[in-house]
Amino acid sequence: MAPRTPTLIQLLGLVVTLGAVGVFSLFTLDRLAGLRRLGSDIVDRNRRDSLQLIRIQDDVAQLGLALRDMAEGTEPYPLPAYRPQFARLKGDLENALEIEAKLMPAARTAPQQKLLEGAFGRFWDQMDKLWALAGEGRENDARALIRTRIEAERATMATVISRLLVQNNEAEAAAVEQIQAIHRKVELNLYALLAAVLAAILLTGSLVIWHDRRMFAQVALLSEQRKELAGEVIRVQEDLFRTLARELHDEFGQVLTAVGLMLQRVEKRLPEGSGERVELHEVREIANQTLERVRGMSQMLHPPVLDDYGLEKSVEWYLRQFEKQTGLAVHYEKIGVAPWIGDSVAIHVYRILQESLNNVARHAGVQEAWVRVSYSPEQMEMNVEDRGVGLPESPREKGLGMIGMRERAELLGGRIAFEKLAAGGTRVRLAVPLSYKGGKG
Ligand SMILES: Nc1ncnc2c1ncn2[C@@H]1O[C@H](COP(=O)(O)OP(=O)(O)OP(=O)(O)O)[C@@H](O)[C@H]1O
Ligand SMILES: [Mg+2]
Repeated sequence: MAPRTPTLIQLLGLVVTLGAVGVFSLFTLDRLAGLRRLGSDIVDRNRRDSLQLIRIQDDVAQLGLALRDMAEGTEPYPLPAYRPQFARLKGDLENALEIEAKLMPAARTAPQQKLLEGAFGRFWDQMDKLWALAGEGRENDARALIRTRIEAERATMATVISRLLVQNNEAEAAAVEQIQAIHRKVELNLYALLAAVLAAILLTGSLVIWHDRRMFAQVALLSEQRKELAGEVIRVQEDLFRTLARELHDEFGQVLTAVGLMLQRVEKRLPEGSGERVELHEVREIANQTLERVRGMSQMLHPPVLDDYGLEKSVEWYLRQFEKQTGLAVHYEKIGVAPWIGDSVAIHVYRILQESLNNVARHAGVQEAWVRVSYSPEQMEMNVEDRGVGLPESPREKGLGMIGMRERAELLGGRIAFEKLAAGGTRVRLAVPLSYKGGKG
């Protein structure tokens, strides 16, 4: 099964996280709006209302003081002399009551408001009576009115105002309590959101990591399988080439050699210059040429020199063959002493050399190549270089040569690099460890 990408999981994680943040933001904004409402509608209004109530309370207290003076008669003024003071206080009270009525908190009931207005109404009615009595010169009646009625009405006013102030304080305390409750709720929600976002990140991250690991494991397995398959294909191919080469050499080679010898014997028995002898000679030539061709093919498929003399001699033999066949000049340099390199390694190095030089002949567009092989006890290195057109940025046709070279280098546990040279040309660099035991074939 092809591994699926974790994009869907990442997207889901993103959506969940964004959703949680979005929902929380909306909720918090709503709560904050509620807080603002509570702050301005209840607390501020309450405080301004309380200020007016205190102003009223203060006026009522001044009324009380003036009434006490009037009732006791200790001051040397007649009662009407107090009238301007009362007029001023009445004006101030009316103004304060008007402002207070506008600010009146929502908690105030209609009966309470009526009580307040009634107390003031009755007080001023009694005051009118007082001024009337005083105007008639009935000062003692007027003073009695203060003691019996007016002071009582004033006390009622003071009580009502005090109660309203207490009520305002209670309402404010309740609002503050409510505000704190909202704060607590928002805080709790913030923790919940943090937990949710962390959980989403953790879950998404874990799933992505898990997916990645599974995907990498599958890729590694596929890569391993591909490597094994490629190695097997190369081994089967080499076995086939070796068998074909042997068959060609042993079977056809023997037969053609025998045919040649027999023809030679018959030819010698025929009279010199006779037509039969000339024809037989031609047939013998054809048999010889075919024999040469079969030998050549056999050697190309799997050079026997590789089995008999090892890699070093095979390289030298091949370079001579290559120069003869292609007309290219190959400059060969050997560094170090070559150890014995067995057929299982040598065949792959030989094939890489073959393919590299074939590529020079086919693609480089030059008539010269450089081959350098250096040996050390640990590893061998082989460079095949030309000064031709160089590797294209992206090859137009997909060849198999370079892929095969890579597979063979990998089979040997070695490294191969294809370099485009800055001065123009191409270099194939192969390094093979000579102590490598991991390769098969
Ligand atoms: N020495 C070189 N100089 C210039 N271009 C090269 C050289 N070697 C390889 N190339 C380029 O790299 C391509 C791939 O080479 P590769 O050997 O893999 O395939 P091929 O030679 O085209 O085909 P195949 O080897 O399968 O018969 C070539 O087609 C060629 O364009
Ligand atoms: Mg090639």
